[in-house]
Amino acid sequence: MTAAASQVLDRVLVLEMVRVTEAAAIAASTLVGRGDEKAADAAAVEAMREALNSLYMDGTVVIGEGERDEAPMLFIGEKVGSAIGKGPKIDIALDPLEGTTICATAGPNSLAVLAIAEEGGLLNAPDVYMDKIAVGPGYPEGIIDLDKTPTENINAVAAAKGVPARDLIVCVLDRPRHEKLIAELRKVGCGIMLIGDGDVAGVIATSDPETTVDVYMGSGGAPEGVLACAALRCVGGQFKGRLLFRNDDERGRAAKWGITDLDKQYDLSELAKGDCIFAATGVTDGSLLAGVKRKKGKMTTESVVMRASSGTVRWVKGEHRTD
Ligand code: FBP
Repeated sequence: MTAAASQVLDRVLVLEMVRVTEAAAIAASTLVGRGDEKAADAAAVEAMREALNSLYMDGTVVIGEGERDEAPMLFIGEKVGSAIGKGPKIDIALDPLEGTTICATAGPNSLAVLAIAEEGGLLNAPDVYMDKIAVGPGYPEGIIDLDKTPTENINAVAAAKGVPARDLIVCVLDRPRHEKLIAELRKVGCGIMLIGDGDVAGVIATSDPETTVDVYMGSGGAPEGVLACAALRCVGGQFKGRLLFRNDDERGRAAKWGITDLDKQYDLSELAKGDCIFAATGVTDGSLLAGVKRKKGKMTTESVVMRASSGTVRWVKGEHRTD
């Protein structure tokens, strides 16, 4: 890492990133439970973009709202920051509203999320699905493997934890495509926490001793996989991911971003490498963070910001005047 990039990551961006996720979460929170996913997402995107543009950096969105022709703002490749061409080069992965449906239906665990790394530190994941498996810290390296069956993975994790498989809880997105996985997990006997949406929080839950989640399994968005990896790099844990392609168009997207080995099983440190910072603010209440609350004359937010190189995790409670 260049000295300039390191200094910016260190001194300036760590806390400034919270302002960015707070701005997106506050904007989205005005639309919690309104049944309008698009409006909530648009509000979060606009607020996050404005906040990002006030940061001193030469930022490039590597994971964003979509490709240039489909996303008006925060598209992949968009330059953000107040020092384009002269400031430190920073790669940015973002999801201004992770869990748009959750927000629209006032469900749990919708977040505004951001990860940054030095140039080249985050995989430019195309917007396709990714098969994922994750565990928290404390397990022997290599304990999870997408080339093994769910039964083999669960038995390995249970043995390492020193408990029977039935004592483990596995978090899985509640989707018809996971019918076979869920049936196999039922046979193994472990508990299953089915979530409606929001697998960034689902993956992070494996590393949080406050939750009961031991393992995350199943397919979800590839961009969300990279964002979750940035968080796990900071707090510990293991993650394996493999991109899943449903058609030639999706395979073409991968090629466009320089991905040639389409069957590759990625390790955590290949999805988010080097030093990186992860920040999130709760939009609705969830396992990781409380959502935005409005009281007379003020709003409160809860955020977390963490850094891989130091392992520092900061919990930030914000009070914002509404006048
Ligand atoms: P959005 O915020 O884009 O709606 O994503 C929510 C989410 O649940 C992600 O957390 C997850 O990775 C993805 O959708 C799963 O995709 P799908 O809903 O197509 O199964």
